[in-house]
Amino acid sequence: MSEKLWGGRFQKDTDKLVEKFTASLPFDQRLAEEDVKGSLAHVEMLARCSVISAEEAEKISAGLEEIRKEIERGEFPFDLALEDIHMNIEQRLIEKIGSVGGKLHTARSRNDQVALDLHLYLKRELYNIEQLVLGLQEQLLKAAHRYKGVVLPGYTHLQRAQPVLLAHHLLAYFWMLQRDRERMQGVFARTDLMPLGAGALAGTGFPIDREYVAEKLGFGALYENSMDAVSDRDFVLEFFAFASLLMMHLSRLSEELILWSSSEFDFIELDDAYTTGSSIMPQKKNPDVAELGRAKTGRVYGHFFALLTVLKGLPLTYNRDLQEDKEGLFDTIDTLKMLLPLYSGMIETMRVKEKQMGNAVRKDFANATDLADYLVRKGLPFREAHRVVGAMVVYCQEQGILLQDLDLEQCERFHALFTEDIKEVLDPLRVAHARKVRGGTAPCAVEEQMKKAEQALRLIMSKREE
Ligand code: ARG
Repeated sequence: MSEKLWGGRFQKDTDKLVEKFTASLPFDQRLAEEDVKGSLAHVEMLARCSVISAEEAEKISAGLEEIRKEIERGEFPFDLALEDIHMNIEQRLIEKIGSVGGKLHTARSRNDQVALDLHLYLKRELYNIEQLVLGLQEQLLKAAHRYKGVVLPGYTHLQRAQPVLLAHHLLAYFWMLQRDRERMQGVFARTDLMPLGAGALAGTGFPIDREYVAEKLGFGALYENSMDAVSDRDFVLEFFAFASLLMMHLSRLSEELILWSSSEFDFIELDDAYTTGSSIMPQKKNPDVAELGRAKTGRVYGHFFALLTVLKGLPLTYNRDLQEDKEGLFDTIDTLKMLLPLYSGMIETMRVKEKQMGNAVRKDFANATDLADYLVRKGLPFREAHRVVGAMVVYCQEQGILLQDLDLEQCERFHALFTEDIKEVLDPLRVAHARKVRGGTAPCAVEEQMKKAEQALRLIMSKREE
């Protein structure tokens, strides 16, 4: 007979390669803490419901506590032949306290057990990740305050379009992250479901108390269908969807930091602590953190798509395929936890080249829309004003000058509505100040926006786990 915990109906040992191939232990060791926590709640409930005796429950709990300490101290004897973290802990328990340890798995299957562990683990990490997203939002908001007076070109098609406040530009990222946090609320709600009691798939005949376990473990709700409980990984997918959007946002921010720190833009200098050098070119200072952050987006999208593909053809209920949910989940969590503080640091320490940003606005046609708006205010339909200013831009480009270099006489040649007050609208640094609409880039509007951002920071979407 095979030595395995499930070895009763096997006459031969498992092939070594099969053992290695099917084991999840190398990666699901991470669930050890949750596995013990879930078992402790389960065993307490079994005794409460008189499925096992109080004495048995005490022995099992004491054994589990010892195991918890062994794991914490790094002294737990992990054994690959035992397949996964669940079997490792159960076997160790039996080793420690004898056959009564075998009662732990009463009214439970690894199928609902692994689901429980995953729910618990993700709930905890959601809270941690949200704190890090908040941290980055705070840095963006602080930077917005710091650079309140700084103006730079806003772009469309990566062509200079209209001047904006740097604060306004940075706050755009603040709101992306706010939506990411809002999405976390949905992820959290669907992760906050308690699967235990589903057994292998059909529930259990033992008179257990699922509500008690849920309450004990801090779950907001229970799965209402045992078959769904053991085969659902939607909550992991939703986390991947959230993570993919967040990574896409970080990647766009990366791209701007990379562009801005190039000599061509020359808008910022990233801090020495957040850049690396070249092994051959002594002058180089490379934005590798931003580049790697941009690249890591690929692996997060990859994990999302991999799990969607794993799940798409699976019949109910548990299939071993589901074991493939873990590495991508852990890697996504690690990636986010590594990257978010790095981005906070980059934003906090970057040096803004106010002058260069200002020059880029001044030496450009970023005030063209405002010139057209000027004519509109004097009664001209916008479409005509657009055409008039377009012709003025062509003229300036031919002469190698800018709109603000034109004198009134030259302007009048393009349209009779131009008068002396035109100088005011042409000051490129001031045109941003005119866009006072709610959500616009005028300093007063940005000030309002910062107040809203301050309030938004106070909303927390996921709950802290004990
Ligand atoms: N290691 C397995 C997983 O991660 C645990 C559940 C195993 N269940 C089973 N019936 N083989 O999915």
